[in-house]
Amino acid sequence: MSTDILHEQKNRSLLQIAIFASGAGSNAKKIIEYFRGSKEASINLIVCNRQGAGVIQIAADSQIPVLIIEKERFFNGDSYLQELQHSSINFIVLAGFLWKIPETLIQNFRNKIINIHPALLPKYGGKGMYGSKVHDAIIAAGETESGITIHYVDEHYDNGDIIFQAKCNIEPNDTAETLAEKIHQLEHENFARVIEECVSKI
Ligand code: GRF
Repeated sequence: MSTDILHEQKNRSLLQIAIFASGAGSNAKKIIEYFRGSKEASINLIVCNRQGAGVIQIAADSQIPVLIIEKERFFNGDSYLQELQHSSINFIVLAGFLWKIPETLIQNFRNKIINIHPALLPKYGGKGMYGSKVHDAIIAAGETESGITIHYVDEHYDNGDIIFQAKCNIEPNDTAETLAEKIHQLEHENFARVIEECVSKI
């Protein structure tokens, strides 16, 4: 068999993932490291809505192209479908992405978009519940546990089918900051592996 054919066969089975992120990108970094050299999937694109976000440097360090997106085209145009198709993206991972996903992308990637939420959904989810706001609300309510939820993305905020949850205890002296650290640890331990399980079913 020629090397060209071998190369083609390898690429055909490789799932191409885009990570959407708005912030520091520590989850994106873990996912990039996890899939480096994988025969299942590769991270082909980082999509970011914020100039200067940490995730942009993480992508540059790994030589992964970055697409910076703007509100108008994302919400009222083609939602950058053209670029996603051009990069042959067939799975989308939201890793700290703060914009709602528009209909166009939901329809074109049905059951192929997953999100990580820093709480045990259905509690502490929905519009406005993101980042430190989630941890502030959980500490203020005096909860004794929190955790992470990985779920499919549909038309509504934090609403799609749940794929995976993991819990952590909240001690009386925990603050929103220390809780955020515990949550990040859970995310870093589990997200990439759960993504791998999802893509292996496609
Ligand atoms: C994570 O806690 C994620 O659950 C939330 O935003 C945070 C992103 O962190 N939606 P990072 O940018 O991956 O470090």
